[in-house]
Amino acid sequence: MKFLFLILFSLLIPALPNSAFAKVLTFPANFKWCVATAAHQIEGDNINSDWWAFEKNPGAIKNNEKSGKASDHWNRVEEDTLLMKDLNVKSYRFSIEWAKIEPLEGQWNQAAIEHYKNEIKTLRAQGIEPMITLHHFTLPTWVVAKGSWEWTEFPKAFKKYTEKVVTEIAPDVQDWITFNEPMVVIFGGYIAGVMPPRRNDSKAAGRALTAMLQAHVQSYNLIHTQNKKTMVRVGFAHHLRVFEPTQWFNPVDWLLASQLDKAWNWAFATAPETGRLQLYVPFLISVDQDIEGLKGTQDFFGVNYYTRDHIHFSLTKFELERSVPAEAQVNDLKWEIYPEGFYLILKEISKRFPSKDILVTENGIADHRDAFRKVFLTSHLSAMHRAITEGARVQAYCHWSLLDNFEWNEGFAPRFGLYEVNYTNQKRTPRGSALYFSEVAKKNSLEVE
Ligand code: FCB
Repeated sequence: MKFLFLILFSLLIPALPNSAFAKVLTFPANFKWCVATAAHQIEGDNINSDWWAFEKNPGAIKNNEKSGKASDHWNRVEEDTLLMKDLNVKSYRFSIEWAKIEPLEGQWNQAAIEHYKNEIKTLRAQGIEPMITLHHFTLPTWVVAKGSWEWTEFPKAFKKYTEKVVTEIAPDVQDWITFNEPMVVIFGGYIAGVMPPRRNDSKAAGRALTAMLQAHVQSYNLIHTQNKKTMVRVGFAHHLRVFEPTQWFNPVDWLLASQLDKAWNWAFATAPETGRLQLYVPFLISVDQDIEGLKGTQDFFGVNYYTRDHIHFSLTKFELERSVPAEAQVNDLKWEIYPEGFYLILKEISKRFPSKDILVTENGIADHRDAFRKVFLTSHLSAMHRAITEGARVQAYCHWSLLDNFEWNEGFAPRFGLYEVNYTNQKRTPRGSALYFSEVAKKNSLEVE
């Protein structure tokens, strides 16, 4: 009898649905599922921008690729909005291109303004709410000619641009990001010299960061006074990483990892809370400056999370080395896939800024075969859920990205899209993980084993 029971039971097990053993993680009601893009990476023909000019430099972009038509989103807004609808997202984070709406100083391109107005209409017709980024890495070339971030009138010019957007394009949008990844823009442009304006001048980097914060203040105040939405919120999208010592027994590695965490992750991000930018990296940069009006100008904490770095100081080369352990799982760009880091970062944000709402403004994976994206989503969304249950006030998750696009210095090879783009005919095809993400967004929950 016992034997018969065992046979019956073992026959039954494979017939049971997976979900019989699965745990369901449900997200808070009204959680915003979202996808993110940036204008220069998807629209195409950003001819009056600094990146367009920069891409012409030999070696600036892998294989000397150029953004060109990119994913031709400029001509495919309707089609791409329907792709978003299929993903069941209720929110779309995208950027307005300053170089397109103001190609020359003071000359506004009405057709481009209409284009963005229509884009917002098209999104709303499908029940998708825009989240707007004002600056995602690119500047108009005329701003560069004046001195980019160091031009004394930069904050004023940025304010005028904001005014145009907030009054004519998006008068009733709730969530605004003034600057995407301030540390990446300024580090890339002024210290590493791998992005426009291609400088290696850490003093200028300090001035540029200050100018960015001043521009943010102007833009923040303007959006709050001009916007018709009562609940309008303005913030940044900060790029946060986990830094760990390569050798756990090496005090220098520990010290460097913690210094980098402080300088890269928190110095700029904390400035809008205190009103003062305090950024210090030995032998590299030292800024300590009060910024008028800055205190209290970060309504939410926007976070882009991708990976972790192991940090080591090599005595033989006498330089800092960033690495990924050989056994680590990595994406196509060799960035470590580290979901635990997402949890740690979200926890740390809520520890430092307990009353602040958190928006995940980017998280995603370069994976051309779509081999890991589903697992990436499951592990990262579980990590986020864990942080939420422990009190992190995360209200939105924007997956990077809706579709394959021009990945800056890396060109078109990295595939971050939930939709694959065939760049020969611009055909979009959903990857398997797109279907998975759409189910999660629809159910507002996730099944884990
Ligand atoms: C982020 C950028 C975004 C995209 C992703 C992969 O740092 O904000 O534009 O390139 O990385």
